[in-house]
Amino acid sequence: MIDIHSHILPGIDDGPGNIEKTLLMIEQALEKGIHHIIATPHHQTRKYTQEAIEIVEAVNQLNLLMSETGRDMTIYTGQEIRMHGELVQNLKKYIDLPLVCPSGPYVLIELPTDNIPLFTEKVFYHMLTEGYQPIIAHPERNMELIRNPEKLYQFVNQGVMTQLTASSITGSFGRKIQAFSKAIVDANLTHFIASDAHNTTVRNFQLQEAYETIQSRTGTSKYFQQNALSVIQGTPIFLKPPRPVDESNVMTRFRSVLKRV
Ligand SMILES: [Fe+2]
Repeated sequence: MIDIHSHILPGIDDGPGNIEKTLLMIEQALEKGIHHIIATPHHQTRKYTQEAIEIVEAVNQLNLLMSETGRDMTIYTGQEIRMHGELVQNLKKYIDLPLVCPSGPYVLIELPTDNIPLFTEKVFYHMLTEGYQPIIAHPERNMELIRNPEKLYQFVNQGVMTQLTASSITGSFGRKIQAFSKAIVDANLTHFIASDAHNTTVRNFQLQEAYETIQSRTGTSKYFQQNALSVIQGTPIFLKPPRPVDESNVMTRFRSVLKRV
């Protein structure tokens, strides 16, 4: 399996603090059948701004260690970039990095947790016209999108892709986030599932479990796995026609959860 979103590089962001912890994460990933991981450290947040060269060097070192120690794991460069007004300019200057390929097209973008900046749609438009493919990381955990799922539909209609977090689907972030995630899958408003792993405990690799959940519900896990491969290969992705989120369905699920509590 291929994981397109992870915080696996040692001592770079809020992922593993040292190489020993990185190796524990890699062992866990291998046990769960993941052999390709894109390292996506936080970037352009208040706390973290990463030099591209540092990420490239850290990934090169880690890959060297993988081959020296006989581990069947390949790490790729990437960033999880906080939405900001100069995204296109910074991508062109190699300050902000796309996933895997130095020249794109796939770019992983994080929105703030509680809102969507006013310039977001404009930045997405600019990216798309310049040949970049924005992917919104974990839309299911953005408060404004939870309140107004129509906004998510508009972004996907605009040409933006999205990535759900595996542990949102498995329920680690709670029943509401899980219900919203499933509704997003049902409405064809997401294109990738990824771990967003930070460690081996509370934020770990639940990719396989998430794929199994999706497969048993909708039989579409292969679609998501193929899309992750397309990111590694830099090839286009088949888009399913997006639909607005069925909010009555989400509310029914919320109510059934409340009844059980
Ligand atoms: Fe992340």
